[in-house]
Amino acid sequence: MFYKPTWWKEAVGYQIYLKSFKDSNNDGIGDLNGIREKLPYLKDLGITLIWICPFYKSPMDDNGYDVADFFDIDPSFGTLDDMKLLIKDAHKLGIRIIADFVMNHTSDEHAWFIESRKSKDNPYRDYYIWADGKIVDGVETPPTNWASFFGGSCWKKDILTNQYYMKIFSNKMPDLNYKNPKVRHEMMNVATFWLDLGIDGFRIDAVAHLGRKDELIDSTMDTLGKYKPDWRMFSNLPVIFDYLREFKENVFDKYDIVTIGEVGGGATPEEALRYSNLEAGSLNMVFNFDHCWSNNVWDLNKKEQVVVDLVNLKKNFRKWQYGLYGKAWTPIYWLNHDHPRLISQYGDPNNIYLSGSMLGSSLYFMWGTPFVYQGEEIGMTNYPFRTIDDFNDVQDKNNYYLNDIENSPNKDEYIYLMGIKSRDNARTIMSWDSSKYAGFSNVKPWFNILPNHKEYNVKKALEDEKSIYKHYREIFKLRANPKYKDTLIYGSYKQLLPRHKDVYAYVRIGNKKILTVSNFFNKDVNVSIRGYKVKKVLLSNYDNPNKALTNLTLRPYETITYLVE
Ligand code: GLC
Ligand code: CA
Repeated sequence: MFYKPTWWKEAVGYQIYLKSFKDSNNDGIGDLNGIREKLPYLKDLGITLIWICPFYKSPMDDNGYDVADFFDIDPSFGTLDDMKLLIKDAHKLGIRIIADFVMNHTSDEHAWFIESRKSKDNPYRDYYIWADGKIVDGVETPPTNWASFFGGSCWKKDILTNQYYMKIFSNKMPDLNYKNPKVRHEMMNVATFWLDLGIDGFRIDAVAHLGRKDELIDSTMDTLGKYKPDWRMFSNLPVIFDYLREFKENVFDKYDIVTIGEVGGGATPEEALRYSNLEAGSLNMVFNFDHCWSNNVWDLNKKEQVVVDLVNLKKNFRKWQYGLYGKAWTPIYWLNHDHPRLISQYGDPNNIYLSGSMLGSSLYFMWGTPFVYQGEEIGMTNYPFRTIDDFNDVQDKNNYYLNDIENSPNKDEYIYLMGIKSRDNARTIMSWDSSKYAGFSNVKPWFNILPNHKEYNVKKALEDEKSIYKHYREIFKLRANPKYKDTLIYGSYKQLLPRHKDVYAYVRIGNKKILTVSNFFNKDVNVSIRGYKVKKVLLSNYDNPNKALTNLTLRPYETITYLVE
């Protein structure tokens, strides 16, 4: 076997957006005890690793990604004792827990920033990135023309000292200054605190942005608008690898943990290898998003449908599966809390079971550690947003108001198109059952409930003879089966029919060979796959799957996984 076996290579992950998962004390907000209640449900699905979105004390400008105190739990989510109990109960069930480690920034309500902004000579001044504005033609502008991910400039002026602080996300999320060794030291203490509490590792938020270009020079990017989305000014710069090495040597290496960095769009497989290569990487794996947008959602007109570009999706799969295999490890996932729902993105809201189970087999028999996003396993869809008040996300709201959409004749179209891409789609309330508040709470939850929760929910998924949930459970059983583990966990990946527009086919090769063939569309298709002989069908989403590989007719959204030779 090529790879050294470790628990996290064999794990099945599940991402929890805490605020929307399960409310245990009926205040309308999901909490740690809610997760504890649902551990048996996750165990039954085959989950062995949970990533929980930020639970730290926070004013919730970005639902917890704006941390005001790294050493405490937000009271709306519970207490440190609840966390200890959750870790204990999860470990008893063989489930490990990783925390979202928000390294790049804090809340502006964090004690360090409250100090930092007070004066230029405050001992905490250098914890953040401060600079003078520029005077251009007699008018003051921010230090550079770099944009923020959440709209507008990545600088915000603070009148107390008349300087600007850097904030590549919201105004309430000032960026930490990693050049300052004190900041690195403080953040290593944060990591150590949680690891000593029993956490099994971290998903590291926005890790690609810990370094910035030294010179504050304007971007020359040729785009409309004052502020340039020139992310390379503060993404994936080489200095990050030095910072991470320090974290690895002083903290990560001391524990049996897993670390997964979010490197976002823009990172190449070569950069991913710098973060996570087997010999010298500081992280165990990284999340990129190349495969998450292989359709027309970014240039859609109101009248058009979302159309999946399977050829492009397959190209992205090849890029990462081939690019990293044997050199690093990788997570596999369809979406996270920053993306639209899978069924609305790549599946079919009118064929939820078939398209959802097909997408599951298409992804989770590939090489890497699966991360299921909450609600994906029951086929949750996008939310039908109608007005700006239906949204919660600070990114969407910023863009709406900064562009004065409120007074634009295209307001309805803007809302419709924003709704298709919005991060809020992933953040709606988990559909546990068909009751008024979807089994999430006894009171009205903090956010939207999907109208289709009556037909698609956990309770039904468990009762129905066929459901996405049950299909996913079979996938994870096969991955854990000692007979197939060498192939499905550690084996290599080979893509077939790369140019086929409708069918995705790939083989995993270890001490056995396992072939998965999926029809991505709502029509019959015929393909011919040569060079393999079917020994057995391992999983399919229709009864009586066809076994003639050289003349294989697949029904709408049909997926079949074969043991072959
Ligand atoms: C990451 C998170 C996202 C958050 C941002 C700032 O991209 O996934 O939800 O808004 O970082 O913390
Ligand atoms: Ca609660």
